[in-house]
Amino acid sequence: MSKIKSRLLLIAISISVSIIISVFISLLINDVNIIDFFKILFFCFFIIYLLGNIYTRFFLYTKLKEISEDFLPEKDISQTITTSMEELAIQLKDYDSKRKNEFSEMKKQESFRRDFIGNLAHEIKTPLFTSQSYILTLLDGALKDETVNKKYLKTASKAIERLNLIVKDLDLITKIESGESNLNKERFNVIDLIENVFEMLDFRAKKKNIEFILDKENELLTDVNADKEKIEQVLTNLIENSIKYGKENGTTEIVVQNLNENKIIVRVTDNGVGFEKENYNRIFERFFRVDKSGNRSSGGSGLGLSIVKHIMDAHDEKIYVESELGVGSEFSFTLEKKTPNKNE
Ligand SMILES: Nc1ncnc2c1ncn2[C@@H]1O[C@H](COP(=O)(O)OP(=O)(O)O)[C@@H](O)[C@H]1O
Ligand SMILES: [Mg+2]
Repeated sequence: MSKIKSRLLLIAISISVSIIISVFISLLINDVNIIDFFKILFFCFFIIYLLGNIYTRFFLYTKLKEISEDFLPEKDISQTITTSMEELAIQLKDYDSKRKNEFSEMKKQESFRRDFIGNLAHEIKTPLFTSQSYILTLLDGALKDETVNKKYLKTASKAIERLNLIVKDLDLITKIESGESNLNKERFNVIDLIENVFEMLDFRAKKKNIEFILDKENELLTDVNADKEKIEQVLTNLIENSIKYGKENGTTEIVVQNLNENKIIVRVTDNGVGFEKENYNRIFERFFRVDKSGNRSSGGSGLGLSIVKHIMDAHDEKIYVESELGVGSEFSFTLEKKTPNKNE
């Protein structure tokens, strides 16, 4: 359509210019009859139209091609080199809006990166400062003071342990994000896995006299298809939280239920401090803590739930949270059932 338009425009310009030139020539040469006038007119039209065509084809075409090549991404040029201004304008607009989107995405990532580094520096600063100051105090003479030297060393060691934990979690989260740590799905029994994690964390639960309870729906087949190591990490992080944010003499209860034909759901419930609904999404963010003033030296890396979320996303499974301040929290996640083969 636009090609026809530009051709008609060229014809119209050629006719108008040839009329002007023909009239001019006719005035210069007296004695021009009407047939000669039309001959001159036709000749002028022919020449102007030809020149116009050559100009648009070679000059404009090369210019537009240059613009296309300069501004449009390579994969587009092959199909889109165009001598039509309109088409080029549409392509450039299209390209411009794509670039704008990319640009705003880059800006978002940049601000995310800035926040992340800021948070990371903040998290690392405290344990680093603690261990450094205790070691310096010891070097300054406290080493000889039998009443405090062991205590100071223990505190310094604890702070270093925390640094180690942050680095380990960061490493894990980076690997999951970059897809470097691919899922290694296998068949396993989720109840056995929960019992293992309970056993591993039993010592910590005992410190707060928290009771572990495991329950499963009757007749439920509890074999699942997932990355066992990663689901163990999910359970560990959730159970650790249930102890850390649980009340003394409380309970951590895990219930495994049928969700539908293909999925089971694992619910981890505690009767601890809980939190308000407005934090439901944010607690999965890196370094987010509900209680900002919380004693970090006893806390984890602040990455636990964000690791959990990453692992569940990688499995294409869901994680839900429900909590009430002062009452307790429930984290639940889905897993794919592994139904036994007929010949098994
Ligand atoms: N079971 C829970 N009960 C109450 N609050 C919780 C629970 N689990 C997580 N949270 C809140 O979510 C935040 C993020 O948890 P997480 O990512 O595991 O980091 P961390 O345990 O290192 O603080 C915690 O700081 C806490 O405020
Ligand atoms: Mg945690």
